[in-house]
Amino acid sequence: MKVLRPVSGTNTDTVSFLGLTLQPRSLHEMNLLVEQGIRDHRNWIIANHNLHSLYLLHRHPKLREFYSAVQWTHIDGMPLVAYMSVLGLTGLTAYGGLLVIGALKEGEQVFVSAAAGAVGSVAAQIAKIKGCYVIGSAGSDEKCRWLKDELGLDAAINYKQGELRASLKAAAPKGIDVYFENVGGEHLNAALPRMNALGRIAVCGMISAYNNFGAVSEPVTTLSNMIYNRVTMRGFVFYEFESKRAEFLKDMKGWIRQGRLKYRTTILHGIEQAPTALIGLFTGVNTGKMVVQLSQD
Ligand SMILES: NC(=O)c1ccc[n+]([C@@H]2O[C@H](COP(=O)([O-])OP(=O)(O)OC[C@H]3O[C@@H](n4cnc5c(N)ncnc54)[C@H](OP(=O)(O)O)[C@@H]3O)[C@@H](O)[C@H]2O)c1
Repeated sequence: MKVLRPVSGTNTDTVSFLGLTLQPRSLHEMNLLVEQGIRDHRNWIIANHNLHSLYLLHRHPKLREFYSAVQWTHIDGMPLVAYMSVLGLTGLTAYGGLLVIGALKEGEQVFVSAAAGAVGSVAAQIAKIKGCYVIGSAGSDEKCRWLKDELGLDAAINYKQGELRASLKAAAPKGIDVYFENVGGEHLNAALPRMNALGRIAVCGMISAYNNFGAVSEPVTTLSNMIYNRVTMRGFVFYEFESKRAEFLKDMKGWIRQGRLKYRTTILHGIEQAPTALIGLFTGVNTGKMVVQLSQD
């Protein structure tokens, strides 16, 4: 088992760890840790885990006292909520998806779908920072205004108005080198004919399919455009970019401090709002990251 991120920083002499992230070598080891290790070592509680890592917090009696005393609202000058969006999984997904999978080069033509959402708004802004021409799609005029007026995108398409293929053709006069795909279905159908030679489609998600049984997507009828333009399409998952985390944090914090990367959070209050928040992702309630706040602490 590998210890990925010990989180220390306590200044009391009784607490040596606040938390750490562990990476078990196998699913079996993960199960052992979850089912046995944690039960036997009652001082550790599982704060979060996925298939690949386990985030533990130390349940030391002094810990609560310590948290209350420091009253963290910021870490390294960044609000805690930023670590749930731009500086967390969301940001890393956008950063790695665009720069590693999309292999973005300065000055390229980029299209981002669900561009006013959490991942999309970060991907679109990183592409702008890299000097690209950036087109975003979103589901309302208000979101499109935010993309153009505040985030500085070159073009924004309200995909709920007009015909998406025609709107994209008009918005991308020089074609598309990198398509950061969050939506699938008609968005993919519209993007494929616009892809330039050796274009890359980084498939982050296909939210238009998630509510269908088996997440079956709408038919994609324009795939043949991949052939002569030698387009690459590659899916990815954020944990592929774990080795880039330090570089990602350094870049992102720098861009946020310089005012070059902005973020918004849509906050719903109370655990009873969790279903509304989840459903809201499919109806476009959120701009930026959707967060459910459980308490004021
Ligand atoms: N691969 C990974 O590791 C990874 C990690 C995180 C997220 N993801 C994927 O990234 C995508 C964005 O996730 P997120 O957490 O950042 O969510 P988000 O973009 O903040 O929220 C989802 C947005 O998608 C849009 N949308 C919903 N249904 C749509 C449809 N049928 N057609 C077009 N747009 C639709 C809505 O905005 P509009 O108002 O614009 O419609 C909604 O606000 C998702 O596909 C998610 O699965 C992948």
